[in-house]
Amino acid sequence: MSRKTVRDYIRTIPDFPHEGILFRDVTTLFADARGMRLCVDQLLDPYAGQRIDAVAGLEARGFILGGAIAHQLGTGFVPIRKKGKLPGPTFAQDYALEYGQATVEVHRDALPAGARVLLVDDLLATGGTARAGIALLERLGCEVMGCAFVIDLPDLGGRKALEAMGMELHTLCSFEGA
Ligand code: PRP
Ligand code: MG
Repeated sequence: MSRKTVRDYIRTIPDFPHEGILFRDVTTLFADARGMRLCVDQLLDPYAGQRIDAVAGLEARGFILGGAIAHQLGTGFVPIRKKGKLPGPTFAQDYALEYGQATVEVHRDALPAGARVLLVDDLLATGGTARAGIALLERLGCEVMGCAFVIDLPDLGGRKALEAMGMELHTLCSFEGA
């Protein structure tokens, strides 16, 4: 009997959010009990034997994964949010979008300097979001132990950019030509 892999649970929706884009939809992965467990277990697997002090998740889908991974690793969870959502004093980091710019923020007191952090999101495309998250964690004085993503879109260059920074990457599946 062949069992579905994480990749098999991901649905592709053409022309969303723009014509010509193939949207990789993880809601079908997260909604399935086996799919959800499989992806969380596989994402945290390389870190289970390491000292990780906290998991940081990128809004929005990184929150779903990051909370589950933090629970399994027995750590706390730190949200990296879109601008204007966090109530306390924050550090902010701009990053480039296809058209224009966006900003993410983290609470200045979210973690102590020296904390060893795992950064989590659903998808790595250009790597702009992840690089902004890394920059924020580094401003807190944290050590980013790794970045874990369900999906890699290697043609968009994020993997290369993060590897060039010396980041340790863990991705569960990839879609070429995205
Ligand atoms: C998507 C995805 C990643 C990011 C990857 O999020 O969930 O967070 O884009 O793209 P990048 O590597 O080119 O930065 P999106 O910005 O659509 O926001 P959302 O997760 O809040 O829906
Ligand atoms: Mg996102």
